[in-house]
Amino acid sequence: MQKVITVLPGDGIGPEITEQAVKVLKAVAGKFGHKFIFQYGLIGAAAIDACGNPYPEETHNMCIASDAILFGAIGDPKYDNDPSAKVRPEQGLLKMRRELGLFANIRPVELFPSLANRSPLKEEIIKGVDMVVVRELTGGIYFGEPRGRSEDGSKAYDTCVYSKPEVERISRVAFNMATGRRGVVTLVDKANVLATSRLWREVVTDIHKNEFPQITLNFLFVDNAAMQLVTNPSKFDVLLTENMFGDILSDQASVLTGSIGLLPSASIGDKVPLFEPIHGSYPQAAGRNIANPLATILSAAMMLNDAFHAKDEAEIIKNACRAAIEQKILTEDLAESGKAFSTTETGDWIEGYILNN
Ligand code: IPM
Ligand code: MN
Repeated sequence: MQKVITVLPGDGIGPEITEQAVKVLKAVAGKFGHKFIFQYGLIGAAAIDACGNPYPEETHNMCIASDAILFGAIGDPKYDNDPSAKVRPEQGLLKMRRELGLFANIRPVELFPSLANRSPLKEEIIKGVDMVVVRELTGGIYFGEPRGRSEDGSKAYDTCVYSKPEVERISRVAFNMATGRRGVVTLVDKANVLATSRLWREVVTDIHKNEFPQITLNFLFVDNAAMQLVTNPSKFDVLLTENMFGDILSDQASVLTGSIGLLPSASIGDKVPLFEPIHGSYPQAAGRNIANPLATILSAAMMLNDAFHAKDEAEIIKNACRAAIEQKILTEDLAESGKAFSTTETGDWIEGYILNN
């Protein structure tokens, strides 16, 4: 097959980790006789520096004209501590999600058994964790209007809005996902307080009854969900939730398995799908060749599987990552002290595994 992949390295460690994933995709292409054409675009602080716009039109056009997007990370500390900044790198990411219609963010949380002892939780609690967070990504408080400051600057407000069709489409994604798994969807909300959450319950209940009666649907308030994610994480199969709750809970869920540096994600919608590591731009590590490239490499595997339906190709990448972990080819976040491999060494090892297996 021939596919065009837009690579958006972004900020911080983004360029280093996407480079490793591209290396791995090239190895897969060579091995399986595919042609992947890579094109590179600017986003985030890198794009602000270059042209003042965190999601330039040129980048958008490039994305639209491709089969999938591989995204690194966004964010730069020079904006984090400057609340008065007019343009922020994150606006680029939000604009891209919105303009590409990426309404569903899929974040699988799977345990590599050999890393069970690296979890902040006890081994008996972490055992068997295998869940997917399905986060709504283009609605809610992230995008609702009105938002801003009162004229005298003494008040600020954000608005959480959801429409029925927005909830319907994301709940179908979650129910479909559960169909290929253990068949349990947990809707996480705050229906005891929020009107939007009550709409979610109503709509998800209807979709469940009318379209997916074979799936088990549970409800959980978000505060309780936060607690159960650390006391009983293996009970979750598909966790469905709105944008802001999903942002918070998916970070929490992601560290259960030992390192946030391991977890990939997919954002899908009605146009081109995007694949990215869950972790952020980790600016302290930028340019130091120490960041864990596995989350991005596993995101490339998700791209092959979900977007290109290339199951064997995705599987060999996952096997390579599993083997790397078992053979202790680990970056600083997971290695014993003094035994860390660099970002590029890890990428090279995985490339070598693919070419030789
Ligand atoms: C994420 C990130 C983004 C979000 C930020 C960078 C805007 O935290 O992808 O989870 O909040 O969605
Ligand atoms: Mn986040």
